[in-house]
Amino acid sequence: QLIEKSKLLAANRAVTEHLSPTYRHIGIGSGSTVIHVVDVISKLGPAITGPMTFYPTGDQSRDLIQAAGFRLGYIADLSPGHALDVCFDGADEVDPALNLIKGGGACLLQEKLVATAARKFVCVADSRKISNHLGTAWKKGIPIEVFPMAVPQVLGELERLGSLSAQVRSGLPGKAGACVTDNGLRIVDAVFKPLLTELPEGKQEGEEGVWTVDGLARRLIEIPGVAEHGLFYGKSGLEVESGGAQKPVAAYFGMEDGSV
Ligand code: A5P
Repeated sequence: QLIEKSKLLAANRAVTEHLSPTYRHIGIGSGSTVIHVVDVISKLGPAITGPMTFYPTGDQSRDLIQAAGFRLGYIADLSPGHALDVCFDGADEVDPALNLIKGGGACLLQEKLVATAARKFVCVADSRKISNHLGTAWKKGIPIEVFPMAVPQVLGELERLGSLSAQVRSGLPGKAGACVTDNGLRIVDAVFKPLLTELPEGKQEGEEGVWTVDGLARRLIEIPGVAEHGLFYGKSGLEVESGGAQKPVAAYFGMEDGSV
């Protein structure tokens, strides 16, 4: 209950500080924290939300948008560049440079499309997501969305890159078979040593399985059969004029003591 309350407080603050009534195109991410974001936006009322269009990052957020009575948009219809005014989404882990691990809910491909289409990506989370090095708080591995036919080769390549373990994610508990994403693909969760923000002097990327966030992110996307991975890194919308930024401009953490 404390955690849920802290997510609501973070959502409230993030929406208050980053949703201008003049905005028209809003991205809505996936997960349990985003439910609070949609609730908070909903309370603004139809006079504010009526002229806005909301773009989901998967089936769950599409349902949330529709249940709130908001106008639904489609990311496939977005024009290149900064098509969205703002996007709100959760994260599985956040480091001090605002690099993220996302995809615990298997929605990472659409989440990255929506985040990179937004002028501002605002991350909303609770205190459990804060960490100094990605891979220390979210221990289940970096989610990687993979074309089904490529799974064996991707697993082999991850091993060569020094992954400590890599597993195809299984479906919902009690449901047989692998987890299938909203895009019909599989998720491989790959555990690596905690990711650094800078390489130690004299070391090379991947040496003894040690990677920086940027180094591993760039390497993973080069693997044939990988559609996307859950490392959000590089620049934020504040640093990039024309779109394509993956990192949030801000992250709001609800703390158990009621602060944000
Ligand atoms: C979905 O694939 C994820 O990226 C979510 O945004 C992330 O798992 C955060 O979810 P919670 O808000 O439920 O912790």
